[in-house]
Amino acid sequence: MPVRFAPHTAMDPLKVCLVSSEVAPFAKTGGLADVSAALARHLQKRKHDVRLFMPLYRRTKREHELTPVPELQDIAMRCGERTYYFSISTAKLPKSPFKVWFVRCPELYDREGIYTQDQDEHIRFALLSRAALEVCQWTQWAPDIVHANDWHTALLPLYLRTLYAWDKLFARTRTVLTIHNIGYQGIVAADKLRDLGLEAEKRFLYQEDLNEGRINFLKTGILYAHALTTVSRTYAQEIQGDEHGMGLQHLLRQRTENLFGIVNGVDYEEWNPRKDPLIPERYSERDLRGKEACKQALCEKLGIGYDARAPLIGVVSRLTAQKGFELLPDILPVLLHRADLRLVVLGNGEERYENYFNWLAGAFPKKVAFRAGFDNALAHWIEAASDMFLMPSRYEPCGLNQMYSLRYGSVPIVRRTGGLADTVAPWNAATGEGTGFLFDDFTPEALFGTLQAALELWRDEGAWQRLVQNGMAQDFSWEHQIGQYIELYQRLVPPR
Ligand code: ADP
Ligand code: GLC
Repeated sequence: MPVRFAPHTAMDPLKVCLVSSEVAPFAKTGGLADVSAALARHLQKRKHDVRLFMPLYRRTKREHELTPVPELQDIAMRCGERTYYFSISTAKLPKSPFKVWFVRCPELYDREGIYTQDQDEHIRFALLSRAALEVCQWTQWAPDIVHANDWHTALLPLYLRTLYAWDKLFARTRTVLTIHNIGYQGIVAADKLRDLGLEAEKRFLYQEDLNEGRINFLKTGILYAHALTTVSRTYAQEIQGDEHGMGLQHLLRQRTENLFGIVNGVDYEEWNPRKDPLIPERYSERDLRGKEACKQALCEKLGIGYDARAPLIGVVSRLTAQKGFELLPDILPVLLHRADLRLVVLGNGEERYENYFNWLAGAFPKKVAFRAGFDNALAHWIEAASDMFLMPSRYEPCGLNQMYSLRYGSVPIVRRTGGLADTVAPWNAATGEGTGFLFDDFTPEALFGTLQAALELWRDEGAWQRLVQNGMAQDFSWEHQIGQYIELYQRLVPPR
């Protein structure tokens, strides 16, 4: 008679192995870092046994205190022609007992940036993925779930089916791949197969791609992960369509039953105007005087004229085509001539956008300020100081800044796409409901009309206050969202 095992119950702690190329505050270029840190922190808060692996980049090593794990030093890994040696160190995630596991391999990670254009970029992240699995083996820790994030770690499900399939340690392991951004797929030449340790496993790869001479990391993950998630419900639908699927829509449609949209949460310990140490004055929805003081101080610091009656529009963003800045040149100069408003932009990324914002700040020195670079403290201050927050994204898997803006009383003006559509509700003058302004068509005219509507409502002090209060009352905390991940994990894990 077959032995029956009790199914995995909500009470059983799960062993979850998270692997990510970015974790805040250790290394961050965008929202992936915030989300990986929050997932780890909140899973642990719910008493799950979590390990989070990331590379030890140069800047992390400089800025954080690390503790080497003595029994996990100088582990050899063969990648094609070369053998690399990696070691593990840990560091505490601030404000949490949680320890992050760093894969130290100076040859691969001791470089200026997090991401590079170097020839071995594929090895950098394949090694991260394999190192996470090998550390599980070395420590005999059998994960229930291996959770990969974006293209960098998307080979994990395939590795478990091939190179590591012999090891009974992983017999019950299930995989989740979260797509934070389908715009980055990790496409490399097919001759890199050896470097990835997959030369003998060709049959598992997408044959059409191989025949055309390439390997697509993200696509491979989509093929083999037990479950796929993305970071909002709308984006989960959008990526199955031709406009946003970026070539992977057909495959995603085939996996539609295993594709879930889970909206990102916000870490209100970090992003909360009541207690944010990074802003000059703190405030709450009951008393917004501190917000006004933040605005005045920012305008003075950046040398643009402060005027309580002139709304301040904030932008904090990676400067890439995804974020929709193409819409701006046709409308911003007109608007800045016509309306008394201020614009503060903090951004990091492509030179063409930096050049544009530098030009704009030069053309309107009393109204526009631009800061190039990555500056977390300034990002918080802009949220606190601005009256409106602009995100005209071409596509937006989730977006965190619009949710931060809501909490800071900065009204989001966003395109109705992905997570922006799921988290910002349109202002309705008749009912006094809604939290922001949305536009549909990706055209300068559509954005112009929406900005004008926002500027018009700004003049109606009562209505504007209501809109701000509505936004500040929203709750997108991880306390809610984490439950959806746990439920998914529990559904995947085979009964014990
Ligand atoms: P994405 O991940 O596509 O960049 P999100 O809105 O999800 O977009 O997350 C962006 C995160 O990165 C936010 O926490 C935001 O404050 C931060 N960020 C983006 N650009 C900068 C910058 N130049 N300086 C500081 N923080 C930034
Ligand atoms: C990506 C997306 C962004 C999302 C973030 C975290 O970088 O562009 O919309 O919020 O990942 O999931």
